[in-house]
Amino acid sequence: MAKTFYITTPIYYVNDVPHIGHAYTTIAADVLARYHRMRGHDVFFLTGLDEHGQKVQQAAAKAGISPQEHCDRFTPQFQHLWKMLDISNDGFIRTTDAKHQAVVQRFLQKLFDQQLIYRAEYTGWYCTFDERFWTEKDVEGGLCPDCQRPVEQLSESNYFFRMGQYQQRLLDHINANQNFIRPESRRNEVLGFLQKPLEDLSISRPKSRLSWGIELPFDQDYVTYVWFDALVNYVSGLEYLPAKPAVDRFWPATVHLVGKDILTTHAVYWSTMLMALEIPLPHTIFAHGWWTVNGEKMSKSRGNVVDPYAMVDTFGTDAFRYFLLREVPFGQDGDFSHESFIGRINSDLANGIGNLLSRTVTLIQRSCGGKIPISVSTETSDLDTELQATAEALIQEKLPLHLGSDRLEFNRMLESIWSLVQQANQYIDQTTPWVLAKDGEKKNRLNTVLYHAAETLRFLCVAVYPIMPGTAEEMSRQLGLHIDFSTPILAKSMAWGDLTPGIEVVKGKSLFPRIDPAAISKQGVTVSTESTPASSPKEATGEASPQSPSSPGNSSASPEVENQISIEDFQKIQLKVAKVLTAERVPKSNKLLKLQVDLGTEQRQIVAGIGKTYAPEDLVGKTIVVVANLKPAKLMGVESQGMVLAAGGKDVLGLVTLLEGEIDPGTQVR
Ligand code: MSP
Repeated sequence: MAKTFYITTPIYYVNDVPHIGHAYTTIAADVLARYHRMRGHDVFFLTGLDEHGQKVQQAAAKAGISPQEHCDRFTPQFQHLWKMLDISNDGFIRTTDAKHQAVVQRFLQKLFDQQLIYRAEYTGWYCTFDERFWTEKDVEGGLCPDCQRPVEQLSESNYFFRMGQYQQRLLDHINANQNFIRPESRRNEVLGFLQKPLEDLSISRPKSRLSWGIELPFDQDYVTYVWFDALVNYVSGLEYLPAKPAVDRFWPATVHLVGKDILTTHAVYWSTMLMALEIPLPHTIFAHGWWTVNGEKMSKSRGNVVDPYAMVDTFGTDAFRYFLLREVPFGQDGDFSHESFIGRINSDLANGIGNLLSRTVTLIQRSCGGKIPISVSTETSDLDTELQATAEALIQEKLPLHLGSDRLEFNRMLESIWSLVQQANQYIDQTTPWVLAKDGEKKNRLNTVLYHAAETLRFLCVAVYPIMPGTAEEMSRQLGLHIDFSTPILAKSMAWGDLTPGIEVVKGKSLFPRIDPAAISKQGVTVSTESTPASSPKEATGEASPQSPSSPGNSSASPEVENQISIEDFQKIQLKVAKVLTAERVPKSNKLLKLQVDLGTEQRQIVAGIGKTYAPEDLVGKTIVVVANLKPAKLMGVESQGMVLAAGGKDVLGLVTLLEGEIDPGTQVR
């Protein structure tokens, strides 16, 4: 029977729209779910919403609607975001589900019958925001030690769970199970917390004060306190969300992912509740750090809450997923800034993996008739074997190590993948296939080199899939592989050399167009989606190395040259066939048109002074000729990444077009 892997995220409060913190945990859980499915494990991935409690009740009252209506309005926002972020959860739980509520009531009744829940008068300091009582010694200056908001003294009769009696058993469990709380620093925090006597836990609220909750089965004047309701989701979800009840199949959970702020509730409240219910404890509770924004705490009042929808719209799903997991070690706090995000997109994604794919496909098309060549084993060198060794170690050793539930080192996993990307880019630089291609006697070596590059990319497709599923699909498509990632590809180890020669590669769009930081709006969440940044001229020939980013800039077009030039000089100019995709006028200019053109391997934006001669709609669909390796320049503030060829001087008389209009975009013009 396949090994099971049950992963959960916290269930999120529906008192507000989702933010980067929610996205962070859910993406991390998705990466693990996808990775374990690839390994052939029996996976269940649960996420959902925490819909009861004071905050939801208050938010609904403010909006003048019922709490249920409020929850129903907010739920699709989360569900839609998970779709946009490519989250592959198997279950989505809502604590207002009648079946969840029934499980909570069953558990409460069981503990009540065993006298593990009792009623008592309690006086304490209550924090409305955190929905919890504090003792006298916790409260300094009348403020909640957690959120620093004023607390109020309340005296009321409530129901309590005998949590205190499990203190020693919990300590023993933590001490005996090194991986129960991760990372180590958080484990120590919980052990520290358990040095103080553990008090019993209030689990109810009188309906007179909070009605939006699950009624206690043994006292209809009370509803259960938020944590007793919410934590139970991890078990109740298995009862009714899978096609068949699956508690026996998936419990105990493999990993509960939580933010550091809710570690105590999971490690202490949930664990002791499970002990009382005689249910085994989860294997691992992993607490991640918090994101700040430009060094500041993220908050609505500061207006700096990072909106995951805007991130996806602006930068794309995979870039966002990559950044969140690459930038910061999972257990630690991290800082979000647009500068670091764009830096990563340009260096790691555009220059790194995007460049590797595009140059490999281009080289195979140029020199091997567009088909994966046959590697000729008699011609291998150390460079080849080193590349193979790194690729194999990545899949067989690095991924399982870094993604082990005790570690969850997503950033180190990505570092390992990117060392292979870098090595492969250097491999191409060092073996210079474009030079080999000029020498007929080097054909075997050329084939071996390009086979190795393509085989490395096949390994990379598999390695990046859990983090960037869309990118892996696109890489696989361009390599002509059509890998079915829904099958357990990693159930047995991948063999180097399984890439079949003869497969046709397919030209495609660039994986990650470079982003121009100057194009980011003031709020820093929107970039101009029209400008597809220029790729390095070398990229088109496959020569571009990862260290050679294109130079965005304001340099103007070359002056007209009247002197005679040599043929070598002329060959420096890359003239290419392009097809006009869209055309529009540049605002406030009667001469400039902004064109989006298809250059075969990429899309470019070109600004051309042809607006007096042509209306934009006349140009769409036309096949024209462009200078493809001109340095980008800005014309009236709009970036132009090339130049169209036209007859005439100041006044344009006509565009250079081709008699045979059906020539493929990207074809060289000589
Ligand atoms: N409903 C409870 C959890 C119940 S689980 C049985 C809850 N919800 S929450 O919506 O307030 O928070 C959910 C998660 O978001 C928590 O894990 C929290 O740590 C995380 N984050 C909230 N702000 C965050 C950041 N700024 N950065 C990273 N994660 C953050 O708590």
